[in-house]
Amino acid sequence: MKGLILSGGKGTRLRPLTYTRAKQLVPVANKPVLFYGVEAIVAAGIRRIGVVVGETKDEIREALGDGSRFGAEFTYIEQGDPLGLAHAVLISEPFLKREPFVMYLGDNLIADGIASLVEEYRRIGCNSQILLAKVPNPEQFGVAELSDGTVIRLTEKPKEPRSNLALVGVYMFDDTIWDAVKSIRPSARNELEITDAIQWLIDHGRSVHPHVVSGWWKDTGKVEDMLEANRIILDTFLASGAEGLDEGSRVEGKVVIEPGAQIYASTIRGPAIIGAGTEIRAAFVGPYTSIGPGCRIERCEIENSIVLEGSALERIPGRIADSLIGKHVRIHPGAERPRVHRFLVSDNSEIGIL
Ligand code: DAU
Repeated sequence: MKGLILSGGKGTRLRPLTYTRAKQLVPVANKPVLFYGVEAIVAAGIRRIGVVVGETKDEIREALGDGSRFGAEFTYIEQGDPLGLAHAVLISEPFLKREPFVMYLGDNLIADGIASLVEEYRRIGCNSQILLAKVPNPEQFGVAELSDGTVIRLTEKPKEPRSNLALVGVYMFDDTIWDAVKSIRPSARNELEITDAIQWLIDHGRSVHPHVVSGWWKDTGKVEDMLEANRIILDTFLASGAEGLDEGSRVEGKVVIEPGAQIYASTIRGPAIIGAGTEIRAAFVGPYTSIGPGCRIERCEIENSIVLEGSALERIPGRIADSLIGKHVRIHPGAERPRVHRFLVSDNSEIGIL
């Protein structure tokens, strides 16, 4: 079996972060979302993995490498324009050939990985296996209708969903998928939808097995989802030692302090992770906070947030919460009079002030 991980696409919902980086490389608990997907595929015993890349291909390649650090072998597949998930499958045919494969959307996170699901697909011997999860907002996903445990209809982002079962971004296919992706036509949003390809399989009498997942699942396409994924992953952490702490500092609960981080006169309340080489001074960090590497947090309070590498937050009054702060951002009080709010903010940013 082969793997196909999708890391092209646009990432419009995570702007402005995605103006400067691929959405699949935004970190959750200081690790790019995409790495969790790759690790899940490898843990399922699959080593030959196709990586579909789009306009952020250079950045993705640099982050992932040739696969050896994951115990995998990557083949990069360039998708000119993000013309849909089924289009990504279509252009991957020379790599996938006629072998069965698992397709994993690079911005998805799923509890407990996919090893048992891949095993189930092999055991059942169906043409395709799809994963479904109950969600409160099905209109934002592909939605499945079941009858007596059988999938009868799949609709991509329906205005009036007929169930609360969303399609999770992990799919398993055998070679019957090729006729499907070659037969469907672009949708209203001008994409070749994998949802339509699976519907084609159903309509042509192929066996599509639905597995309703019981654990958590996150599509990290939006900021709130990133923060929630961050909370979930941090919660799975075990506490690591308290290196890098001075006498006036303390850590509470599950806190990971990466090598070279320095904590002075501060409290870190877990779950939290502090990146390598970061300096925390007279601050309160956590719970549910990931501070990336090379950051500086001084005289601030921050909770339920993600801060990317190289950013500095200094002497900010009030508590920072529910925030996603990009790379090399600097937030600090102005040094001069008059005391004004002064912003240098990129397009599509959002700032909430007291
Ligand atoms: O997350 C689950 C949902 O993923 C499913 O419920 C939907 O049925 C499915 O269509 C998909 O919906 P999204 O609108 O969230 O897909 P998105 O455009 O975010 O793309 C998912 C991943 O695939 C993302 O990492 C980008 C990548 N991608 C996307 C497209 C359209 C590609 O590599 N190439 C593409 O052409």
